[in-house]
Formats: sequence, C-alpha cells, structure tokens
Amino acid sequence: MEASGKTSISGDLLAWYDANARALPWRKLPGEGRQEPYRVWLSEVMLQQTTVAAVGPYYAKFLDRWPSVTDLAAADDAEVMAAWAGLGYYARARNLLACARAVAASGGRFPESEADLKALPGLGDYTAAAVAAIAFDQPAAVVDANVERVVSRLFAIADPLPGARKAIRARAREITPESRPGDFAQAMMDLGATVCTVRAPRCLLCPLRAGCRAGKQGDAERYPVKAPKKAKPQRKGHAFWIERDGAVWLVRRPGKGMLGGMRALPDDGWSARSDGSGKPPLAGDWHAAGSVRHGFTHFDLDLAVLAVEGENPPVGEGEWWPVERLDDAGLPTLFAKAARRVLA
Ligand code: ADE
Repeated sequence: MEASGKTSISGDLLAWYDANARALPWRKLPGEGRQEPYRVWLSEVMLQQTTVAAVGPYYAKFLDRWPSVTDLAAADDAEVMAAWAGLGYYARARNLLACARAVAASGGRFPESEADLKALPGLGDYTAAAVAAIAFDQPAAVVDANVERVVSRLFAIADPLPGARKAIRARAREITPESRPGDFAQAMMDLGATVCTVRAPRCLLCPLRAGCRAGKQGDAERYPVKAPKKAKPQRKGHAFWIERDGAVWLVRRPGKGMLGGMRALPDDGWSARSDGSGKPPLAGDWHAAGSVRHGFTHFDLDLAVLAVEGENPPVGEGEWWPVERLDDAGLPTLFAKAARRVLA
C-alpha cells in the first residue's frame, strides 16, 4: 500500500495510539474526552522548543498557581516571568500573558476555529492548529518537527528543509482525518518521539510501515533532508556580580529583545550581533570569577563573570537580592549558570 490512503494511514495510526498513547500530564487519553483549551494551549506553548520531560514541572506549577486563563490574565507580569525562568525563549512567556489577557478580555473562552485562534497574540500556525485539533476536535493539520519527520519519511520528500515545509504541510493536511483529529495529531507526535525517531528509527515496530516510502527505500534516516547548516557565530560578553552585605545587585532586562523582561545580572551589552564592551557598570576592584558558555538559537555566548564587593550599586534601576534566596529570583538559565559559577 502506498502512502496515500487517508483512511488507512489515520486508521492504522489511531489503532496504534489507542494501544500506545503516552500518559502525559496535559493529555486526555483516548476515550477520556477532550482536554480543556487552557491546558492544551498552555502545554503546547511550553512544549515548543522544549522537551516533554522539562515541561512537566512547569506545567504543574502554572496550573497550580493559575488554574484558569482568567487567573493567568490577572497575574503579575514579573511573577509569570519568574515562574517561566529556565524554560527559555522568554518571548513565549510575554506572549502567553498577552494571549491570556486577550482571551479574558473577550469573555474568558478560547475561540474554536484555527483562524480565530491564530489571531491571538503569540499563536502561530502550529499552536493554533494544535489547540483547534486537540481541544476542539477540528481537522487542523498540526505540524511540529516530529510530524515533519514522519510525513517527510512517509512520502519520501526529497526537497530539503526549510523549503520542503510547504509540501510537508500539504501532505499532512491530506492525511489528517475528520474523525479524532486531536488524537491523530498527538499520535503523530508520539510516533515521532518513540518510533519514527531522528536516529535509528524503529521501522519494524511502525504501524505505518506498509505505506512508508522511505521505509521501503530502506533509509528512513535520510529524511527529512536538510539544507547545510550555517555555523553559529561565537560571541563574547561579560556579566557583573556586585555583592554587598550578602546581597547581589540584579537588574530587569528591557521588555523587548534577548531574555526580555527577565531578572538578570548587569552585563556589558552583548547581543546576537555583537560582542560586549567589557566595561563594568561602576569603578571598583573587579576580579575574574570564571566564565560560562551558553548556546542560543542563533549564536553561542562565552560569558565571563567579573565580581566586585562592597561597592554602591551602579546608577539605574535594580535591586539588592539576598544571595541565599537567589534560586527564587527567576534568573534565566544563562545568569543562573553565571551565579552558580561565582558561588561555586
Ligand atoms: N509535543 C508537543 N505537543 C505535544 C503533545 N500534545 N503530545 C506529545 N508531545 C508533544
């Protein structure tokens, strides 16, 4: 059988899902009914660029503190940013709040269609389709990296990514069923995560092997074909540890841009496009306190940490934060690593 019969692909996949669906905190298993839109949306935003294992505790914490979209809409910005700390891609947290407030402002219910969902702040093609399919049973094609991999293998799509994305989406739409589209989407994700894996796919266990063109060629791993990667630039920057009476000086980063809105150590202005100036924010007897490396999406950063004790804070806004309570400051991973380096 070729990878074309919509019914056979979705039917085979759903039968596999009925027996093999992973129990995940945000998921209703087959037969348990639909998950609440708020929970679907929250988990899908968290899961973008982040692993299932990493998201678990954050999802639980958010639901505990903000059980509904209107609770989240009423939350303090700084508290939400701090609760998000460590998940990365902080624009997602700012958009999360903007979206919760938009939903709350229009009566507290998420819209049901993919198009209306896409009009909400921060909801791209993927999230809108995921919420439409999983929460509202709409036959939307939900295409994340797992699904891209599965579809590119099923149809042996030889064009490289990112150019192949359009063809992959079209195929994904073709195979999305009218019945149980939410389970179908989640089944594709589970298949990609557990069987149709990036390396060493388990083709012998695959419920779709009869119709998989890449499997027939005996080389599923070749797909999705990728255009050669550009090397990431290596940037250098400094962070500054200013300590006095058991407290460290923290600033809040500007709302837009890298790590926007997050608490942070003062730094020397490094960015994706330039190295930092190396210039400390105040005069003093600075000493080197180690360095940390951190990979961002578009560059790698080598961050040297300089420390000084007993000085007045630099001009500008900030706060003295007790060093012993630094775990509660909501520092993003880069600065949490830098702090651990100083305190080690
Ligand atoms: N990754 C992103 N969303 C997911 C979901 N709903 N189930 C499993 N893995 C996912």
